Amino acid sequence: MNVINKADAFQHPFLDGSTKRMYIDGKWVEARSGKTFATYNPATGKVIAQVAEGDAADIDLAVAAARRAFEGPWSRFKPADRQRLLLKLADLVEADMENLATLDTLDMGAPITRTRGNRARAVGMLRYYAGQATSIHGETIENSLPGQIFSYTLKEPVGVVGAIIPWNGPLTASIWKLGPVLATGCTVVLKPAEEAPLTPLRLAELCEEAGVPPGVVNVVPGHGETAGAALASHMGVDKVAFTGSHLTGQKIIRASAGNLKRVSLELGGKSPDIVFADADMAAAVPGAGMAVFSNSGQICSAGTRLFVEEKIYEEFTERVAEFSRSLKVGNGLDPDTQVGPLVSSEQLDRVSGYLKVGKEEGARALSGGARLTDGDYADGYFIPPTVFGNVRDEMRIAQEEIFGPVLSAIPFTDIDEVISRGNNTSFGLGSGVWTQDVGKAHKLAKGLRAGSVWINCYQAMDPAVPFGGYKMSGYGRESGVQHVEEYLNVKAVWIKTE
Ligand code: NAI
Ligand code: MG
Repeated sequence: MNVINKADAFQHPFLDGSTKRMYIDGKWVEARSGKTFATYNPATGKVIAQVAEGDAADIDLAVAAARRAFEGPWSRFKPADRQRLLLKLADLVEADMENLATLDTLDMGAPITRTRGNRARAVGMLRYYAGQATSIHGETIENSLPGQIFSYTLKEPVGVVGAIIPWNGPLTASIWKLGPVLATGCTVVLKPAEEAPLTPLRLAELCEEAGVPPGVVNVVPGHGETAGAALASHMGVDKVAFTGSHLTGQKIIRASAGNLKRVSLELGGKSPDIVFADADMAAAVPGAGMAVFSNSGQICSAGTRLFVEEKIYEEFTERVAEFSRSLKVGNGLDPDTQVGPLVSSEQLDRVSGYLKVGKEEGARALSGGARLTDGDYADGYFIPPTVFGNVRDEMRIAQEEIFGPVLSAIPFTDIDEVISRGNNTSFGLGSGVWTQDVGKAHKLAKGLRAGSVWINCYQAMDPAVPFGGYKMSGYGRESGVQHVEEYLNVKAVWIKTE
């Protein structure tokens, strides 16, 4: 088993057959235990690298290094110094983008057109945080105390951050944590997902090349229950920034209680995407389709509950099904591929399970519906885009996050009804509305309980615009000034001047 597959691995300069080490205190080191784990290419099921397997002992070392760095020379970096570092890192990421994109594709399967397409976002985020580095400021505040006593606030970095990320977008997820860390003067121990640890390690090399001081950025790959849990409960960590499932999010909160560390959570969703009969069909059909099928549905804010106005329900769902059949499923390295494999055999089993549940519940697969096993598909984890019709709100496929290319189409008749049914979920991350009626659009924008409402588009993202959840989709915002605030403490200073 765990033998590295050279045909796969040597498609990339980062993958030379050597064991990938972890990055602690500016050094590339083995795990204290000497253990390694395999990471796979989900398009072929083959091992592409062995990676040092961090656990509690390595997390201890990394947190100690991050603490020393936080209190050391890094604390004397001026905002403009941190800005320069971020701009340098942005340039290095931009120059290395082809490598980074290919590594993401090899490690987690996304189509190369998608991972290459992340260039603007990855580089843009780093440049945005570079701008934020010199925009951090406190306030002077008038108080009403007698005499002359002056009050103002300072914004200070929270300290050592434990960042835990999932596998669905390793490059951008890593940058979403590193950006605010470097902008604010925090330090970080980043725990990549065990399914896709390679790009975060390559990013650590670029941090080193950019001149990020030792200990400021540490990357410790390992499993959730060991390395992740050790980081979430560590008494030397001041804040945990987590992206992943709500079940793990709940564990993170419990683990954080020991020292009451700050927590921000970007969790899953079951986002409603609502299509009115007056929508521009030419835009809404592929828009609603790609709201789910992008990244094989492995996106936290995917619009998986497609509500369609009853009078166009049959026609519209059939058109989305037809669109879904036109998508090319395949190995992400093929530039024609539009839908890649799922990340792992576990994820394949999970999604296959939901396909079965959907049929048992009485939903009808208008497209897809079963794993692809012919020819080249046989070794990979491929599920074709699937549109379920005949779905009712209470079905599990309409309530639970599937995290695969599976769309549940549900009819509705009235705007107030669809707002309340759209909100009838424990999640609240994304939502979509397709209509040409500006009044309806505004009513939905106010009525939907979700962190993002996309109108006549889906999944638009920008470094300056906050993203995050309502309800069980988590709390805290990423992107925007709100994101940087999550990494800052506010200190009040009083000076008596008489
Ligand atoms: P997960 O939430 O368990 O994993 C995400 C990260 O958390 C990984 O780095 C993992 O190692 C870490 N982790 C796991 N257990 C931990 C613990 N006890 N303490 C600290 N860290 C821990 O998600 P998983 O198992 O990869 O996927 C399962 C389902 O979760 C998916 O099918 C999907 O529904 C959902 N999910 C949602 C994501 C999102 O972006 N909202 C991302 C990944 C998964
Ligand atoms: Mg992998």
